Amino acid sequence: MECRVCSGKLHGFADFGRQPLSDHFVLPGDPAPEFFFHLAVGVCEDCSMAQLLEEVPRERMFHESYPYLSSGSAVMREHFEGVAKRLLATELTGPDPFVVELGCNDGTMLKTVADAGVRHLGVEPSGGVADLAAARGVRVRKDFFEAGVAAAVRAADGPADVIYAANTLCHIPYVDSILSGADALLRPGGVLVFEDPYLGDIVTRRSFDQIYDEHFYFFCAASVRAMARRHGFELVDVERLPVHGGEVRYTLARRGARTPTPAVAALLAEEEARGLTELATLRDFAARVAANRDDLVALLTGLRDQGARVYGYGATAKSATVLNYCGIGPDLVAFVCDTTPAKQGRLTPGSHIPVRGPEAFADPYPDYALLLAWNHAEEIMAKETAFREAGGRWILYVPEVHLVGA
Ligand code: SAH
Ligand code: TYD
Ligand code: ZN
Repeated sequence: MECRVCSGKLHGFADFGRQPLSDHFVLPGDPAPEFFFHLAVGVCEDCSMAQLLEEVPRERMFHESYPYLSSGSAVMREHFEGVAKRLLATELTGPDPFVVELGCNDGTMLKTVADAGVRHLGVEPSGGVADLAAARGVRVRKDFFEAGVAAAVRAADGPADVIYAANTLCHIPYVDSILSGADALLRPGGVLVFEDPYLGDIVTRRSFDQIYDEHFYFFCAASVRAMARRHGFELVDVERLPVHGGEVRYTLARRGARTPTPAVAALLAEEEARGLTELATLRDFAARVAANRDDLVALLTGLRDQGARVYGYGATAKSATVLNYCGIGPDLVAFVCDTTPAKQGRLTPGSHIPVRGPEAFADPYPDYALLLAWNHAEEIMAKETAFREAGGRWILYVPEVHLVGA
């Protein structure tokens, strides 16, 4: 196997077997067979990028009915408002600045930019969510961002001051095309800023369900720096973020345009000291993950045998990995509740657990709730205090299987 970034040799370190498309919620009775692929991860011995071994064609994942909505969490809405304000305050130049977002989804971030009257463009291939952004007053181009699109945007709109992407760059295997596109589109001092789940947090928190079809790369400072340099960029800043279970925001500038902050050297040194991208570290992570699976299956089968009622909370994309890897179906988890309209009334991919609206959670409360959206634990537990008051307990499976409440 060859590295998708540098063609170096890949070494596999974790295997989750046959998996469905993580955001393909199935209509009950739909006779069309589901698409499955082999979910396994490896690391490159040359550039140290962790990545999937099999690539799912992008049109299967990102299309008209892609269900994920950035606006589904209050914490994330606030986060993106903060991002927009900061980009507006720090990255704009000249009388008519221009902000580009890749994977703008329903416009949660760009809405603040639009409201500020600043010229902007969201590039978003998933038609349904792009329409929601447009309805919020965001200017959207329905396309997969890549070199050709970048050139067309540059020709039509001129150079961009900043290109921003959240939870999107790690979804894109063809990163050469993204970086050469960014090079074509950015003004000379412009920056590419992106934030994605951090490999360091995935390993520390054992959050193996960050691994699914859409998450192709698992970035860290070392691998991002190597990737940037291949295209004449330098990693000039890193910032750890608490959202989605631990992310890093990377800033790339053309080589020589900005002096890297001390945070870059510090994170690189930390990764080196802990051997983050070494095969032994990553194989140890995989062994711990297998132990989590065994614990979770033992807990859920025990609860079923006792006659306890268990619901899932949050029909996340990441839950596809947990549910299918652990073989959890409707016999162990009666249904999953979720606020996303496009997921309700459907079945979870592969595992076929019914998805219902959030009102079903309290009607009546279960004895246990499997927190599949554990990355939003604080927000969800704060709004579901009545569940615990009624004696309910949360089941978490990261960093290890444990109960919260009662
Ligand atoms: N930025 C949002 C959405 C993340 S979901 C947030 O953080 O909440 C990932 C998004 O990337 C999806 O909306 C998907 O349609 C989009 N995407 C996938 N490939 C892309 C590409 N090549 N260019 C731009 N967007 C892409
Ligand atoms: P998220 O963890 O953000 O991403 P992914 O799908 O990429 O793993 O998804 C959160 C899901 O949980 C989303 O479907 C919305 C749902 N959700 C609720 O149902 N209630 C809530 O209070 C929150 C915060 C999220
Ligand atoms: Zn490589």
